[in-house]
Amino acid sequence: MSVMSNRHHIVRRQIGLICSLMSLLTSPIFAQNNPRTILDFDKGWRFYLGDEPKAKDVAFNDSDWRKLPLPHDWSIEGQFSEQHLSTTQEGALPTGIGWYRKVFTVPISAKNKAIFIEFDGIYRNSEIWINGHLLGIRPYGYSSFRYELSKYLKFGSEKNTLAVRVDNAAQPNSRWYTGSGIYRNVRLVMTSPIAVNQWGTFVTTPTVSNQKATVSLQTSIRNATRKSQTIRIVSTILDTFGKAVATQTATSVQLKDTLTIVSQQFDVSNPLLWSVEKPYLYKIITQIYSQNQLVDSYETPLGIRYFHFDPATGFSLNGQPMKILGVCLHHDLGALGAAVNRRAMQRQLELLKAMGCNAIRTAHNPPAPEFLDLCDEMGFIIMDEAFDMWKKKKSKQDYGLSWDAWHKTDLEDMVRRDRNHPSIFIWSIGNEIREQFDSTGITITKELASIVKKLDTTRPVTSALTENIPDKNFIYRSGALDLLGFNYKHEAYADFPKTFPNQAVLASETGSSLQTRRHYDMPSDSVRMWGKGGPANFKDGNPDWTASAYDNEAAYWGSTHEQTWKVIKKLPHMAGLFVWTGFDYLGEPHPYPWPARSSYFGILDLAGFPKDVYYLYQSEWTNKPVLHIFPHWNWPKGKTVDVWAYYNQADEVELFLNDKSLGVRKKTGDDLHVMWRVTYEPGTLKAISRKGGKPVLTQTISTVGKPTKIQLIADRTTLKADGKDLAYITVNVLDDQGNLVPDANHLITFSIQGEGIIAGVDNGYQASMEPFKANYRKAYNGKCLAIIQTSEKARKIRVKATSEGLQGAVLELISR
Ligand code: GAL
Repeated sequence: MSVMSNRHHIVRRQIGLICSLMSLLTSPIFAQNNPRTILDFDKGWRFYLGDEPKAKDVAFNDSDWRKLPLPHDWSIEGQFSEQHLSTTQEGALPTGIGWYRKVFTVPISAKNKAIFIEFDGIYRNSEIWINGHLLGIRPYGYSSFRYELSKYLKFGSEKNTLAVRVDNAAQPNSRWYTGSGIYRNVRLVMTSPIAVNQWGTFVTTPTVSNQKATVSLQTSIRNATRKSQTIRIVSTILDTFGKAVATQTATSVQLKDTLTIVSQQFDVSNPLLWSVEKPYLYKIITQIYSQNQLVDSYETPLGIRYFHFDPATGFSLNGQPMKILGVCLHHDLGALGAAVNRRAMQRQLELLKAMGCNAIRTAHNPPAPEFLDLCDEMGFIIMDEAFDMWKKKKSKQDYGLSWDAWHKTDLEDMVRRDRNHPSIFIWSIGNEIREQFDSTGITITKELASIVKKLDTTRPVTSALTENIPDKNFIYRSGALDLLGFNYKHEAYADFPKTFPNQAVLASETGSSLQTRRHYDMPSDSVRMWGKGGPANFKDGNPDWTASAYDNEAAYWGSTHEQTWKVIKKLPHMAGLFVWTGFDYLGEPHPYPWPARSSYFGILDLAGFPKDVYYLYQSEWTNKPVLHIFPHWNWPKGKTVDVWAYYNQADEVELFLNDKSLGVRKKTGDDLHVMWRVTYEPGTLKAISRKGGKPVLTQTISTVGKPTKIQLIADRTTLKADGKDLAYITVNVLDDQGNLVPDANHLITFSIQGEGIIAGVDNGYQASMEPFKANYRKAYNGKCLAIIQTSEKARKIRVKATSEGLQGAVLELISR
């Protein structure tokens, strides 16, 4: 059992499968009378795929249901099938109805506590019962919520039963893969009757300079004692080393009603500012005392920073002009589906950071809370988005059906949950909303903007728009947006200062360029814009459902990566961009029909392997020296092959084939890459970038021989034995010289010894029909991926990969 401190929590513990709280509450930590207890509630659940209405009853016997830990996504465990398609959008995996149950006990000593169950997200239409009492329903699959259990609980040795029905049967309800189930974390929270309310603090920094910051904290305190109370609140700002830098005490605070808001102000001298390069984090600990007894202790993250969106000069952070260099991300984690895993999200963010990306748009829904914690810690600017549709639906069965009853609650909950994250800079109330085009757009925009503004006025409200003729756009005409976000149509950006005078603007979505990793269609300088008429009418595609990795294909409403970046780069009034998308995601396989089942838009593929264009951004968005030449060098003799190079920090690149120079190329004007048109002959391509005549970087690519062996490379070899940590193992098929074989598609079989499981396998190919939960995967263009998950036992994990005709490989991981 591990005890750790968590950013919002004072005590957080893992509990075992049997999940008796009894032992915990008599443990030394609880005995110290820690007033707020937060228990991961992810173990000891039982799951049934199908509908079982009686399962809400306490007496129901679930002993033959499957045992599993949460978070869980049942869709990702299924097989791809045309039968699961209601449109091609959602990814061709099974959906349906599922039930979860958990039986637990609560010790008598917790009787005077307020006890809550917190869900970070259930996709979708959850209905939850405790001991047969309906606690509530929640249609939106991306909202976090809690229910109070206190009055329904039994204490001591008597058992309590939580039952959760999840209904994702009505399809289509999304334009991308959603996953199904309790796919985010669950906690049991116990507080004193007097305690900070759910998401009950709100921290802002009204004035910030390098010399001094003022910090303002509002704390909403819940009083469930039914009596008026007098309390004392002590709030302390701690720096990253835990040293107190400011403290405020409010004495004789009267709590009359159920909720009382208390304000405190602090001065922090010489504050260390939060930025994307140095995301410096403070935290505030708020302690509540009643009759000199500590009754609650609550943690709020704090990043001190200031920013501005300017109609003429774009975005600045802490007084420094900078571009928002962002990507849009859907919430699926590739082979893991929607089931939240902190390490999986961290890996995505690490890969994006290394590319120079500094911002994420959470397309098109609120993310898991851990994702925002990571962005606070790693330095990303977040555009937190609430909805993909309002009342006017985009899919037959989508959230539009719940709009009237739920939009206010869902939007308020997003803002209240997320507003303390320093990484959040923009609230987006919607993506490509249909109400842009009729007058209801005016009323709804005003309503939504005012919901946000009541809870937070420190960030601009935007909506990702497509209609850029001002008169025709009713969301714009509402006058309620602080920042205009436009999707695509990069030709229009230059005129924005005239079309939308005095409006701060950013490109909320760009690109939608289409690529399959390491597949190349030539000539590379002719661009295919795919898909007018929709995927069903798609005719001229490649027979293997591939798209070209030269950045020469895009959806017809979008552009190549280069086309849009060239424009944004030059226009100071464009605050930044969010490229569609950082990673390929499940669903929306535009332009291909079934059996393509995942998207082609990613800068990295579904497995997280970079496509070539990753290095375009790296060469533009970082100061790291970059030289990246492609494609591979295995072609039919005599074929004309286009060789591209992305580079930076150099004036020129010279390319050699078998030591013969093919010439020097220099980017001129707007160029973002250079190219040589080469008649193929086998051998070695060598590129040298030079600055002032001196070599900067060299890269070689050789014609490879027959595949002979497997290579395994782990992203991390030392893991936490917490049952959650992951190692991402890249599997390369190599020739005997150690070169990657560009078209190798061997079936690789994995076996594990020790304390780990295979959490998922993938190869990034958009039309692979192999399941993600398996101990095998075919390589695609030389590579595949195995994701290994630790157990709670600290031991070695041995991963073995074999394939017929190849020398196998073994890799050891340490889990501790
Ligand atoms: C946009 C939309 C995204 C995605 C993308 C694909 O218009 O906002 O959700 O569908 O197109 O190109």
